[in-house]
Amino acid sequence: MNESSFVDKISELETKHIRKGFVKKILVFDELSSTNSAVKDLAIQGEGEGTLVLSQVQKKGRGRFERIWESPAGGLYVSLLLRPSVPQKRFTLLPLLAALAVAKTIRQFQLPAAIKWPNDVRIQQKKVAGILLEAGTDQHHHQYIVVGIGVNVNTHVSDFSPSLAAISTSLFHETKTVVDIALFFDRFLTVFAQEYARFCSKEYDSFLGEWKQYSDTLGRRVKIVTSSGELIGNAYDIDTSGFLIIRTAMNEKKTITSGDCLYLDEV
Ligand code: BTN
Repeated sequence: MNESSFVDKISELETKHIRKGFVKKILVFDELSSTNSAVKDLAIQGEGEGTLVLSQVQKKGRGRFERIWESPAGGLYVSLLLRPSVPQKRFTLLPLLAALAVAKTIRQFQLPAAIKWPNDVRIQQKKVAGILLEAGTDQHHHQYIVVGIGVNVNTHVSDFSPSLAAISTSLFHETKTVVDIALFFDRFLTVFAQEYARFCSKEYDSFLGEWKQYSDTLGRRVKIVTSSGELIGNAYDIDTSGFLIIRTAMNEKKTITSGDCLYLDEV
């Protein structure tokens, strides 16, 4: 696909999704440093909910915990500006919501995507997508949320650094077929808008129930790695904030708000 046809396709689906309601505008770039940084700048200037920035390549893609998100050509790199009018304590559900939308979209391509708490999307134990949520306050003191989503769609895993290549996959790698990124994005936007509408109508329980069906974390023995240390236990449940509850060997319940989750049967 040449670049102009990609931009044309995105502009077509921009019109379609503006009509459906959630999307306000989609800005498309060949290359950016980070779509999250671009949306943050727009948010600070007061840009409204539903503004999306997509880039075909990122030069300084950012991951969770200040990591680099390698962003070669072939991936979908997009950030969405949200200004949800729900209680702030529920914002912690948004990364899980984005992961659910990505996993559902990938399953539409007949691939067995599963979510590893909180928001890694994987296929057969290899990471295919990641989510980075950033929140802040704009110049009018209004809160904003940026949801950044990176999906390895047609990425050649060999384009990643060796350590990342070993733990990553892409839709192309799994199917050996080039996937139409615009089609993937179109389907993703439909699913995301549905999930976000459910969130804005405060249907948190039904959302969490579905998230659990798409996740393979609960019931596993996990190691949680945070900046303040490590904790081992059985992943027992997700609470109403989307936090992970684990049961330790001492039968204590611990609530994990953030961290890397490793499955002990995989390490
Ligand atoms: C992770 O560490 O798993 C989260 C990765 C999030 C990457 C996406 S790509 C689009 C957006 N822009 C960024 O700089 N990061 C996010």
